[in-house]
Amino acid sequence: MEVVIQARGEQIAALVADAIERLLADKPDAVLGLATGSSPLQVYDELVRRHEDGRISFARARAFLLDEYVGLPSDHPERYGTVIARAFTSRVDFPEGAVHGPDGTAEDIPAACAAYEDAIAAAGGIDLQLLGIGSDGHIAFNEPGSSLASRTRIKTLTRQTRADNARFFGGDVDAVPRHCLTQGLGTIMSARHLVLLATGNAKAEAIHQLVEGPVSAMWPATVMQHHPHATVLLDEAAASRL
Ligand code: GLP
Repeated sequence: MEVVIQARGEQIAALVADAIERLLADKPDAVLGLATGSSPLQVYDELVRRHEDGRISFARARAFLLDEYVGLPSDHPERYGTVIARAFTSRVDFPEGAVHGPDGTAEDIPAACAAYEDAIAAAGGIDLQLLGIGSDGHIAFNEPGSSLASRTRIKTLTRQTRADNARFFGGDVDAVPRHCLTQGLGTIMSARHLVLLATGNAKAEAIHQLVEGPVSAMWPATVMQHHPHATVLLDEAAASRL
């Protein structure tokens, strides 16, 4: 696992954008794994800038989201499919239908999860997966206790994660859905390159566990220690317990 510490968020965003720019230059039809949450927002802004400068095109790329809330209506502004379009994908030139997410409105949840795994496999797997990390060490919505081999499935969100995400729901923890669909840790581990970003003190303990702790389902991100190509980009506050 490669750990890179930078003073400023913009430097982290530039390094990640460089990796994506190189990938798309080599493989214009690359498959990107996208994350929601605030951690990758500067990366998305930097990619949009480079797209506007004519340096990067997503015209042949495909993208898959990590996770989605269950039970939000399809026009809800905090649905992750809507969030990623607003933050990134609708600001660049992804073709219609190239950005996929788990279907949190499906009536048959197990079938929707299996279909999502099949869609990722049919695209040839994910070349580069962006990841944030929860303060409890979750990646995507794989909360503590998640099987290290898990695939896309429904999960119950912890109180901590719902409290962390209440800021997107007017500060009201009760407005945050209780369930989600999420790529499993096994799904994430199948991506060819994992790129995790973390900034701020609130992530310091999770980063300490990720980099220096034992691999454990209680700190789900630690599974990344077994990945052959994982990059962790941190600011000094997130790295303060290393
Ligand atoms: C949510 C998302 C995760 C994300 C995490 C951290 O729970 N499902 O994918 O990594 O939040 O979010 P942030 O980057 O806003 O700290």
